[in-house]
Amino acid sequence: MSHPAIVKDNVAVITGGASGIGFAAAAAFARTGMKVCIADVDQGRLVEAATKLSSIAGAANVMTAVVDVSKTESLTELERAVRERFGGTDILMNNAGIQPGSTLFGEPDHWQRIIAVNMWGIINGSRIFAPDMIARGRSGLIINTGSKQGITTPPGDPAYNVSKAGVKAFTEALQHELRNTKDCRLTAHLLIPGFVFTGLTARGRTEKPAGAWTPEQTVDFMLARLEAGDFYILCPDNDVPRALDEKRMLWAAGDIVENRPPLSR
Ligand code: NAI
Repeated sequence: MSHPAIVKDNVAVITGGASGIGFAAAAAFARTGMKVCIADVDQGRLVEAATKLSSIAGAANVMTAVVDVSKTESLTELERAVRERFGGTDILMNNAGIQPGSTLFGEPDHWQRIIAVNMWGIINGSRIFAPDMIARGRSGLIINTGSKQGITTPPGDPAYNVSKAGVKAFTEALQHELRNTKDCRLTAHLLIPGFVFTGLTARGRTEKPAGAWTPEQTVDFMLARLEAGDFYILCPDNDVPRALDEKRMLWAAGDIVENRPPLSR
């Protein structure tokens, strides 16, 4: 791994870091000697996750924070606490997400919760952390976890689709802004996982279904694509031929063909 931000003693903050893709990312960063902060709403899982990370990186290099990403004050406090403990942030992975299912005419509060966690949490996390990350003047990464559903917007679960479409649009805007910021060495990336076997998708299953990826496979793929400089980190689905998958995404988002965010429309 040779991305200049993913190096020993740099600092990574991962929301939704107590399980699934977020935890796998935290473990991978910890293995490179980075200091990691996992932020999650689930305190019990945070404790378990911190124990595992401490065995990789040493307890002094692991921080946990109980955070609800839908709340501005929670994220503001997280940013301050990481600066106090580790001096600042080099990698922010805005990854916390929920998928409780939704219908078009479902309850407004239910829609608002999905959008508040999945979309506003990612937007607000980026807005709160980016200024200090830019000011640090170092190579840095903001990785936002989107979804194929935010690109192809298939029927069913409209609130989730809308939230993830918003993540895509915001991350493109963020990268555009960062590119146009003088002396800025921070870049934004949109992680678009395939079907990953996690608590989010298990739905009562205890065995990984054929075709699903593990969180670790997803993170390995992400690290390779970050090293290659991709903006869209489009994970293939094992059950969809790669060429067809890319074609499907290209149809929905022409930008992926160049793998860079649009500079002008
Ligand atoms: P997961 O359920 O294992 O992890 C999500 C984590 O987010 C959990 O630890 C949960 O406690 C935390 N979380 C939930 N609400 C939160 C809040 N308000 N504040 C802070 N933390 C909160 O699920 P997974 O699959 O690892 O999901 C990670 C991201 O990947 C999500 O954004 C999800 O939408 C996205 N994704 C997952 C796919 C999959 O197939 N698993 C496919 C496409 C996208």
